[in-house]
Amino acid sequence: MTDSNASDPAAGPGFPVELPRPPSFRLEGRTALVTGASSGIGLGCAVALADAGAKVVLAARRQSRLEALVATFRGRGWAAEALALDIADVEATARAVTQYGPFDVLVNSAGLARHGPAVDTATADFDAVMGLNLRGAYFLTQAVARGLIAAGKPGSLITVSSQMGHVGGIDRAVYCASKFAVEGFTKAMAIEWGGYGIRVNTLCPTFIRTPLTEPTFKDPERVRWIEEKIKLGRVGEVPDVMGSVVYLASDAAALVTGTALMVDGGWTAD
Ligand SMILES: NC(=O)c1ccc[n+]([C@@H]2O[C@H](COP(=O)([O-])OP(=O)(O)OC[C@H]3O[C@@H](n4cnc5c(N)ncnc54)[C@H](OP(=O)(O)O)[C@@H]3O)[C@@H](O)[C@H]2O)c1
Repeated sequence: MTDSNASDPAAGPGFPVELPRPPSFRLEGRTALVTGASSGIGLGCAVALADAGAKVVLAARRQSRLEALVATFRGRGWAAEALALDIADVEATARAVTQYGPFDVLVNSAGLARHGPAVDTATADFDAVMGLNLRGAYFLTQAVARGLIAAGKPGSLITVSSQMGHVGGIDRAVYCASKFAVEGFTKAMAIEWGGYGIRVNTLCPTFIRTPLTEPTFKDPERVRWIEEKIKLGRVGEVPDVMGSVVYLASDAAALVTGTALMVDGGWTAD
């Protein structure tokens, strides 16, 4: 291969042609609010966004853990703040968004699971899961969008849904209900807010090793089920979601809205 064909007569009179400019995956100048940032996938998303140049506000309930994380982020040279919040308290959360926003990027990762047979579902477990995974995420997304619309800014609003927002799973009726509902509000909000340049998407992981999935991974029968379903033959680790969140947050996904990015190792391919 030669290093240049500038003198190649076969290249034609229009040479060199103008090449398309690749979009940027960088996030300098953006502020991201990440819920569930004290653990697991949320922490992975916070690290990925900070590493891509965003200022990150880490939100969860455990203030001391958030403060330790913020100190570690700053030690890496990343801009970070801690915000102790119970996302299920939608009024307090909306007030915090007004006070500290607007946020260019939102990642709703705060979530919980109360798995068990559907015939045994207790209303308290149903309400807890829906109160955080659906109601909390819904009203936080609304609050962040309100801030962006008032400021006349575009944004990228991401909810960590799940492959279980697209298929059923054993003992997961309530969890699946919450995640299918997240997929629904994401599409409807994307339609409403597209005109403001606000993109709304979900990120849908398969089983990722975090404190949330620890009980599942202790059950050999469930582990067999998981390994059979994931076509790539291994369970997910937190770094598996880190590239996807940067993509959805960045201008690389400028025309992506109202959709779900599956990070499921092929679980939902059949
Ligand atoms: N792990 C998986 O296999 C998997 C797969 C698909 C989707 N997901 C989804 O990914 C998200 C994160 O899961 P994960 O595995 O990272 O779980 P995790 O390690 O248990 O982390 C959950 C996070 O949510 C925060 N949180 C819980 N309740 C909260 C509340 N009321 N207000 C504010 N923050 C709250 C927790 O922090 P504090 O305790 O400090 O509040 C923690 O940071 C969830 O939405 C989950 O459904 C997980």
